[in-house]
Amino acid sequence: MREVTRRLRGVPTSDGAGVRMTRVIGTPQLDSFDPFLLLDEFRSDDPNDYIAGFPDHPHRGFETVTYMLAGRMKHGDNQGNTGLLGPGSVQWMTAGRGIVHSEFPQQVEGLMWGFQLWVNLPARDKMTVPRYQDIQGDRIPETMLADGVRARVIAGQLGGVTGAVTGVATEPVYYDLHIERGRSYSVPLPDEHNAFIYVYTGSAVAGAGSTPLQRGELALLSHGEAVQVAAGAEDCRLILVAGRPLNEPIARYGPFVMNTSEEIYKAFEDYRAGRL
Ligand code: CO
Repeated sequence: MREVTRRLRGVPTSDGAGVRMTRVIGTPQLDSFDPFLLLDEFRSDDPNDYIAGFPDHPHRGFETVTYMLAGRMKHGDNQGNTGLLGPGSVQWMTAGRGIVHSEFPQQVEGLMWGFQLWVNLPARDKMTVPRYQDIQGDRIPETMLADGVRARVIAGQLGGVTGAVTGVATEPVYYDLHIERGRSYSVPLPDEHNAFIYVYTGSAVAGAGSTPLQRGELALLSHGEAVQVAAGAEDCRLILVAGRPLNEPIARYGPFVMNTSEEIYKAFEDYRAGRL
């Protein structure tokens, strides 16, 4: 069984044109967690925190995963792709050799809440053709795992259900778990995957831990076949995410994540020359 090896909180940050959020992975205290490069939670009902959005910016060499809990975000890129992400929807974007895109809130008031996760690509796939998996909220399978334990299966296989997102290099698992007070469940996971839990509502106990993880806490897990999760003193919601570690060198600068610094220079060159 997996246990919590480390727990930590994110740090307030801002990105894009001044969107305020909490960065949980991709900080000085937790640079990355192979194959995960970044995790942001954005949550605000103050439009000043999010209205400026994310104007045109490039990506190369990895995948960005946006999971919306509340609010609407419009997406567009330099290859003519557009999409509207509503509550409960997910966009799994494989940037591959490169895209230039923007993301703007489609609301001027109300709650905007969700996550952006960056997932690394293996060296052999870093220059692959860009790919989108845009999945509306009602297309994400849900499964009742036990009394009072429900999961939305974004990626991976759980409770006889296959996740909405498939064909990703790191064979990711991405579950959104809703656990009622007093309930628990042992969630199976691929042995060798690196896995984390992030609690976004209520509190939860993971493994044999005695101190509940509170809202806003990230827990890194040891390896093993499953993790026991239980709601704390109130109903709990958390994301459980896992991926196959790549164990490859990471050269990272802003929106580009490659294996060598030469490849980073090349990415800047290509971006400046309009080749993304
Ligand atoms: Co982006």
